[in-house]
Amino acid sequence: MRGRNTRRRRRVALFASLTTLALAAAACASNAPQDTLDPAGPVARQSNNLYQLVFWIAVVVFIGVEGGVIYLSLRFRRRSDGDTPKQIHGNKRLELLWTIIPAVLLAALAIPTVLVIFDVAAKPVGANIVHINVTGHQWWWEYAYTDYKTPDGTPLKTANELVIPTGRWVYLTMTSNDVIHSYWIPRLAGKQDVIPNSITHLKFLASTPGVYRGQCAEFCALSHANMRARAIAQTPADFALWVQQQLRPAPMPVDPQVTAIFQGTCSACHTVRGIPGVGGMVGPDLTHLGSRTSFGGSTFELTAENLARWIDNPNAMKPITGANGNPGPSMPDYGLTRSQIDAIVAYLMSLKG
Ligand code: CUA
Repeated sequence: MRGRNTRRRRRVALFASLTTLALAAAACASNAPQDTLDPAGPVARQSNNLYQLVFWIAVVVFIGVEGGVIYLSLRFRRRSDGDTPKQIHGNKRLELLWTIIPAVLLAALAIPTVLVIFDVAAKPVGANIVHINVTGHQWWWEYAYTDYKTPDGTPLKTANELVIPTGRWVYLTMTSNDVIHSYWIPRLAGKQDVIPNSITHLKFLASTPGVYRGQCAEFCALSHANMRARAIAQTPADFALWVQQQLRPAPMPVDPQVTAIFQGTCSACHTVRGIPGVGGMVGPDLTHLGSRTSFGGSTFELTAENLARWIDNPNAMKPITGANGNPGPSMPDYGLTRSQIDAIVAYLMSLKG
């Protein structure tokens, strides 16, 4: 009897320690580009500092309470059949103590919490702020740099990849074109809902150049998981160069067949500044697509091969059709021929600004 119990206890202990080990190991990803515990700017750092404060207080409370539970249950365990503890009822001093301590702790934690909330929500102050209007779409992000105007007077537009300068505050003014999305670049700032018919703001500052990955953090229908984002922080000099390049119109396609496809088909949704009559506003602005590193809600790396697959059959790469069979509000398959697709891809990939 005793042998079987011991064996079972050993098995439970082994299972528990393996589970704990697996959970702990899962937290040690070597490549975690969306790690909130690795802040890359002051806003994310503030949130992380607050989290660390709460976490370590919680660790102390956890060890105190669990240690007490283990100690007391061993120290006062039943030692024989007739062993009964001293019978008491209530203990006013203890009960007051364990009510007051958590109340004081929570009240104290409320102070830094509320301060950080107000600080993170406040508009950035000073000159040299980069203002960007963000529009959420199913399933991509549109950016309009209101500080930089194209030759025709419209704000500089791009999609999915937010190119920003390091060391300068970026102030996003956000809304949605369809459903509620949520903008989230974990290493730069917390989440902010992006709501139709409503304006929300988010600010952050990237301290060092780099690519900071993010994703939509609010379920927004079928391809929600494919609605990702990248913030690409560049040195101020590189950023100035990027703006200069992006403001230029795209060159006309050499192949008249490409011009005809853009004007006849793509123009329903896309803009390519530089080809007359290609000014659609439904999909991403493609004027300098070739200068980006990703496309399709930043889900796919921008390569000629991926782009050709996308134009050939977008639905296969990013599900846009609902369970009821209705087409989603995204890129349709126009049934272009292989050579037409190759010509379009070659042109788009050449648009590097
Ligand atoms: Cu947009 Cu989820």
